[in-house]
Amino acid sequence: MRLTKEQQGILDGKKGRILQSAMIDLIKYGTAMGAEEFIPVTSVHTAFSAINVVALAFPPRDVVLTKKDVDKFSEEMAATRVKVKTTINPGIIDRKKWRQMGADESTYKSVMQTVEIGRKCGIMTTFSCIPYLTDNIPLIGDHCAWSESSAILYSNSFLKSRTNRDCYETSLYSALLGITPNFGMHLDENRKGTDLVDVQCELEYASDWGALGYFTGDEIGIGIPVFKNLRRPTGEEAVQISGSMSSPGGIAMFHIVGMTPEAPTIEAAFGGNKPRKTYVFDQSAKRAIYQYLNYKPEGKVDFVFLGCPHKTLYEIKEIARMLEGKHVAKDTRLWIMTSSSFRASAEEFGYAQIIEDSGAELFADGCLLLYYINAPAKRPKLDRVATDGAKQAHGVNRSFGSNVFFGDTERCIEIAIKGGV
Ligand code: F3S
Repeated sequence: MRLTKEQQGILDGKKGRILQSAMIDLIKYGTAMGAEEFIPVTSVHTAFSAINVVALAFPPRDVVLTKKDVDKFSEEMAATRVKVKTTINPGIIDRKKWRQMGADESTYKSVMQTVEIGRKCGIMTTFSCIPYLTDNIPLIGDHCAWSESSAILYSNSFLKSRTNRDCYETSLYSALLGITPNFGMHLDENRKGTDLVDVQCELEYASDWGALGYFTGDEIGIGIPVFKNLRRPTGEEAVQISGSMSSPGGIAMFHIVGMTPEAPTIEAAFGGNKPRKTYVFDQSAKRAIYQYLNYKPEGKVDFVFLGCPHKTLYEIKEIARMLEGKHVAKDTRLWIMTSSSFRASAEEFGYAQIIEDSGAELFADGCLLLYYINAPAKRPKLDRVATDGAKQAHGVNRSFGSNVFFGDTERCIEIAIKGGV
């Protein structure tokens, strides 16, 4: 890759070990992907919830790190500042309500130690997968380095900002260096549609948008879908289609003809290309996705999880309306997950109190999947889980072997109140 004088200096170690190592690995990444140069980024979304995991992104990687190694790395990291606006993906606990999640004090302390290092680095420790709605909103044409697959789809498709599906390590290097290799979604020629998806059924609920996204990711795998006959989504439906499309495939962007910025017409969306294939999403395809994501859904439900991707303030308001004056069943948990920014507003506006009065929990900072996979916590019963997020329905069955109900939000709330399907 061609380097500027400044980039060469960093590679030569003139700005310290952390930046040198970030530069070495970003060059390897760019070279592997065929990039010839770096471009500046304005925004990064990465992961930074456990410093002993962050340490593995830097040498030495092939050894088991001792506490002394992690302490030394923590000191070095805290002395290095990110170059651009940087937010982070959900972590493993809610910083305020970690006890209610069943986390122990040592997990809380280690997360807070990482949060403090992140703060010193200049990272905004947002712990949310919807940065594009709250704390990290790119403008049209901005080059970014983001690592949350659902957020990448939203960013490329609806905001017309440009990011590859970066991983946690490379996005952190980009945060530290303010650059990313110029390839993939950063280039016009790679943003043209490849496959047509003809939508021939009504999408009534946000979960139907999740089903459409899941269908598309599963069918196309890697490519850029162009949707025709699809109405404008609401903001929340846009979050669901972006979230679910990222689960079964490797898609980084899609077009909705007449709606998303790069698709005023079908011809513009394909940029002169012919579609490789046309897929039809009709009533029977929709039914098939619901059948696939619902795994033995009938019976007692232990856990209802809403907030994959994280719930917006509007959705929290609606959930509070549905729960007002009602109570969650005795042996069922209802968790609603959001960003700490939206939770603060929900507390201010009274929605959080209504939710908590119903016996449900409004959590921030986390993700059911990440939490019970990564945190040493006592896992509650997850024999049957109900969720309105297709991405979560996909993951919860594979990660915990849970039976799953997947459906719209209102139905999930009814299930939480009744205690089963
Ligand atoms: Fe967010 Fe976790 Fe879903 S990171 S998109 S809530 S799987």
